[in-house]
Amino acid sequence: MKLSYQIPKQDINLEPFMSRPPQYNRKTIIMKTDRVYKCEIINVIELTSLEKLFHLKILDPAEREIFYFRPGQFVMLEVPGFGEVPISISSSSNNKEFIELCIRRAGRTTNILHRAQKGARVGLRGPFGTSFPMEKMASHNILLIAGGLGLAPLRAPIYWVNEHRNEYRDVHILYGTKEPGQMLFTYQYEEWEKVNRIKLLTIVEEANKDWPGRTGLITELFKEITIDPDNTCAIVCGPPVMFKFVCNHLYTLGLPMNRMFVSLERRMHCGMGKCCRCMVGSTFTCVDGPVFDYWFVLNLKEAI
Ligand SMILES: Cc1cc2nc3c(=O)[nH]c(=O)nc-3n(C[C@H](O)[C@H](O)[C@H](O)COP(=O)(O)OP(=O)(O)OC[C@H]3O[C@@H](n4cnc5c(N)ncnc54)[C@H](O)[C@@H]3O)c2cc1C
Ligand code: FES
Repeated sequence: MKLSYQIPKQDINLEPFMSRPPQYNRKTIIMKTDRVYKCEIINVIELTSLEKLFHLKILDPAEREIFYFRPGQFVMLEVPGFGEVPISISSSSNNKEFIELCIRRAGRTTNILHRAQKGARVGLRGPFGTSFPMEKMASHNILLIAGGLGLAPLRAPIYWVNEHRNEYRDVHILYGTKEPGQMLFTYQYEEWEKVNRIKLLTIVEEANKDWPGRTGLITELFKEITIDPDNTCAIVCGPPVMFKFVCNHLYTLGLPMNRMFVSLERRMHCGMGKCCRCMVGSTFTCVDGPVFDYWFVLNLKEAI
């Protein structure tokens, strides 16, 4: 890909936010993550015509206690007899009672899942992958930006910021979808704004007669906020085409690429560095990612 702008010097010189373990041992990761948690679906909430939110409870209380994840990580969800799919965790990492997964009906396995009722049993492996560097983002202004289904992986960092609200400065959520009917988690917007002092801006590409809000592309929302590039971090979740536009726009506003974090999705099989299905060049999206800083993604051939 030909870049139409100069790569900034400060991106290279700044200490990276996403630090990787110096001695990376795939075998240890496999040993830690080969366990299958048996879960029960305890609640199903219909969010839109395509997406449902599933509450899963790990059946064994001891296993429930040890299951811990960080915002940005994903699980492999198994529908017995049908298949296994990678799904980002949408809940708070403090919630020990149940795990929330927001799932779009896409193909074979997710279609079966959408027919599942309360009480159905599923398997869960994980959590897998890298996470957003929430602690390192403390004392910065935070931009949480999502397009469409991207609000599902973004919801865990939103919970984190809400639960540690005093550690962060100004927090903005920018959310865009194609149509108003595709907006996820609308029932939480008021709470995010009023209780958690978060400024939420939404926009749709194609409005209908009932939509009172903004119309246009998500980058339009940047006109309404002031970004201090020296003290801001951004998490961007959505389709690659969207985060490419958003990150390039943020870069033109002065935000260094190593302070923008994205979640890169690839087709996955094992989720733990065994099958090579998710590889981009020599990078395993499942264990080296899915969360990367944008600087890393831009240097990853054919990542976006
Ligand atoms: C790290 C990660 C996190 C994810 N988080 C979520 C989430 O929170 N919620 C959610 O609904 N989905 C999420 N996905 C996508 C989800 O895994 C796929 O939609 C699912 O695997 C489709 O399985 P299926 O058997 O229903 O469909 P298939 O029959 O396998 O495929 C149906 C269609 O979906 C496409 N597809 C399958 N997997 C992917 C993928 N990884 N990326 C893009 N297109 C794909 C196929 O090309 C095909 O067109 C995530 C994927 C990854 C890799
Ligand atoms: S999904 Fe198997 S190696 Fe990444």
